Amino acid sequence: MKPKISLLKFLVFFVVFVFSSSSVVEGSVRRFKWEVKYQFKSPDCFEKLTITVNGQSPGPTITAQQGDTIVVELKNSLMTENVAIHWHGIRQIGTPWFDGAEGITQCPILPGETFTYQFVVDRPGTYMYHSHYGMQREAGLQGMIRVSLPEGESEPFRYDYDRTILLADWYHKSTYEKATGLASIPFRWVGEPQSLLIQGRGKFNCSNSVIPSNVAGVCNSTNPQCAPFVLTVVPGKTYRLRIGSLTSLSALSFQIEGHNLTVVEADGHNVEPFTVRNLFIYSGETYSVLLKADQDPKRNYWITTNIVSRRPSTPPATAVLNYYPNHPRRRPPTPSPAISDLPVWNDTRPRVALSLAIRARRGFVHAPPASSDRVIVLLNTQNEVNGFRRWSVNNVSFNLPHTPYLIALKENITDAFDWNFSPPENYDWENYDIFAKPINANATIRDGIYRLRLNSTVDVILQNANTMNANDSETHPWHLHGHDFWVLGHGQGKFNVSEDPKKYNLVDPIMKNTVPVHPYGWTALRFRADNPGVWAFHCHIESHFFMGMGIVFEEGVHRVGNLPPSIMGCGHTKR
Ligand code: C2O
Ligand code: CU
Repeated sequence: MKPKISLLKFLVFFVVFVFSSSSVVEGSVRRFKWEVKYQFKSPDCFEKLTITVNGQSPGPTITAQQGDTIVVELKNSLMTENVAIHWHGIRQIGTPWFDGAEGITQCPILPGETFTYQFVVDRPGTYMYHSHYGMQREAGLQGMIRVSLPEGESEPFRYDYDRTILLADWYHKSTYEKATGLASIPFRWVGEPQSLLIQGRGKFNCSNSVIPSNVAGVCNSTNPQCAPFVLTVVPGKTYRLRIGSLTSLSALSFQIEGHNLTVVEADGHNVEPFTVRNLFIYSGETYSVLLKADQDPKRNYWITTNIVSRRPSTPPATAVLNYYPNHPRRRPPTPSPAISDLPVWNDTRPRVALSLAIRARRGFVHAPPASSDRVIVLLNTQNEVNGFRRWSVNNVSFNLPHTPYLIALKENITDAFDWNFSPPENYDWENYDIFAKPINANATIRDGIYRLRLNSTVDVILQNANTMNANDSETHPWHLHGHDFWVLGHGQGKFNVSEDPKKYNLVDPIMKNTVPVHPYGWTALRFRADNPGVWAFHCHIESHFFMGMGIVFEEGVHRVGNLPPSIMGCGHTKR
């Protein structure tokens, strides 16, 4: 038996070697040296500890070409805090150990350590990166990845310039204060953010009486760090705006005064173009929209983003669309938009309509398999578990173990997590009243995973429900690591197993890695479990995932090559 295994290992090595060396020949290697540390920053005029990459938040944009190998040498200079970075939207084919999900694919990177991520960006499009350790993302460790087509190939849409805008929400409380509150009895909710940020810039009202006078010195409305973001355009030119959202909580609407936006890309896939006045965008999503600078060039215009889906207590953020050669700091002549001028927060219909409007572009349709091998319905509920406020999926609230699953499974570490857990796929969601306050008091906190057959086709139905507050259902953007999925449908109310699948879009569904499930609604998606590894699937709202709103899939872990020792060293993986 033994010699057989080593022969197999040798063959795997050989194949991996040949494969990786040939892909290096195709693309070039882009090397980055990043230092991650805390700095005092005032992104919304209020000074706060912010995690930066090489001094910046958002961190530097990675620009690469399809087929390139990205090498990021990451030095953790956070002094007393671990870190891990997830490359959001990059499937990590052949490198599941560099997905950056702490507790799932790697051990955390300790302070003072340098960890090297190395992976191939195999498709063009707009992606992101961010911390994937506890709730650390919202301290500022986030940025964007732009992957262009190989030389000589062009997109199916035309533009003159390419620009990037990352949207975020921003709290003045520390990550620890928020996380501790969420994990306390009684529960302390994080509340609404203090500001929204457009490309790392927002404006908190420093004269707000809520600020205690002893900190007034650290809020300075004339600090250049919180001067609004300016997008300068040349009249007549077309701009590709790559817009990403990495909010910790908020769903957003993004709009530019007096201008239409034509949606052409979603999560790295070409969209059959359509035009909107505003773009609804959820945490974890990216879009490219085309903006034509075709309005009166003698003035500037407001760019705004505002909160939808939750009752906002955060003012909209503004940036400036500057028509060259007007002065970039020239204020648009119109008053900056008030909440009453912007899309209404509690009108779900236009948001569902946008979700339904996003289809794959003609000529770029990847047809989904006509049927699936397995259907997993995931009922999303808020619960009280042992006195803790949690989110559950089929009555199971997820807890991350600190021995990464990938290592535990590969090295057969049987006491690292609950191997005997078999996911409650037959949970009685059909008889669950999604409009009532939850009564499923028997939810448990577990760390088991869903194991998928390699190369099988899996359908996931996300079913939304009422929260623990009467007449309240939230929007949850679900993000899948390691794959893109086809978005087969969205519907209102309870999913109907016999009727709704007949209405699935099997003709031109968009592929995405993040998709919202709307209040009291359902979302159906399909994917091929064809990427050996262990992959998180979770709500991209930072506090929801922290409170248990996620699951983990495993597929073909026996096919994963030898793990790099650099991902080990924690929990039961110490050697
Ligand atoms: Cu962008 Cu698991 O996250
Ligand atoms: Cu959520």
